Amino acid sequence: MSFRFYKLLTCPEGRMKDTYIKKFDSVYGSEDSYYGIELRSEFTDYFKEKNINGFCALDLGCGEGRYSLFLAQKGCHVFSADRSSAGIRKLKTTAEMHHLPIRAEVIDIENFVFEENRFDIIIAATVLDHLYGQLRQTTINGIKKSLKPGGILYVNVFTVSDPGYKAKISAASQSSPENISDTAECMEYYFEENELKGVFGNLNILYYYEGVELDVSHGRPHDHGWACLLAEKPAETV
Ligand SMILES: C[S@@+](CC[C@H](N)C(=O)[O-])C[C@H]1O[C@@H](n2cnc3c(N)ncnc32)[C@H](O)[C@@H]1O
Repeated sequence: MSFRFYKLLTCPEGRMKDTYIKKFDSVYGSEDSYYGIELRSEFTDYFKEKNINGFCALDLGCGEGRYSLFLAQKGCHVFSADRSSAGIRKLKTTAEMHHLPIRAEVIDIENFVFEENRFDIIIAATVLDHLYGQLRQTTINGIKKSLKPGGILYVNVFTVSDPGYKAKISAASQSSPENISDTAECMEYYFEENELKGVFGNLNILYYYEGVELDVSHGRPHDHGWACLLAEKPAETV
């Protein structure tokens, strides 16, 4: 498949949107957590000792809500948004069962209203790479706007080092390689080297990592090219 044809297939007009939603509804349909419950260590290492009781958090593209659940267990009030109704249903059930302060809603990020200085913590874990160009940019701007001064942002995305990217731009990709994720078909974009750091460059970067890692949490073992960022919005100067 040529790169140009791939771009046409993933056009922003949303020709593939229903397919992507169905794919996530289907993978979240089983009783187990599709991506597992483990979180990346840079996230847990940062938050485990922090007192975030009563903080207000946003988990964008929360899926089944593993990041939301961690924050809510630490007393954070979490707003969790995803366009997969199966993911949101599962998260609501878990949150109710454990009496956790999570408000989970089926929302397409296209329709999400980013209020200014609203959240102490924002999480966007492997979701910016699921958004087409213009929506990705407005979401990045929205995240920066909605994070309170002094607030913490955690983002991770897949990069051009991901085998899914290499397969999609390669004309030989029709023979599906063994080491790509089974949800790679829903990816709109793979970040360039250091791109994630660049787009949030006006925040104080606390942690940044890029690398390729083996993922055994779902489907057959496969690799992922990661970029992961923890950053703090500078306090307002008066
Ligand atoms: C790879 S999953 C990550 C889920 C979760 N953040 C995690 O790490 O477990 C990507 C998620 O983004 C959601 N998503 C993709 N595009 C979206 C959009 N435009 N609006 C809302 N959710 C979206 C998908 O439904 C899916 O649940």
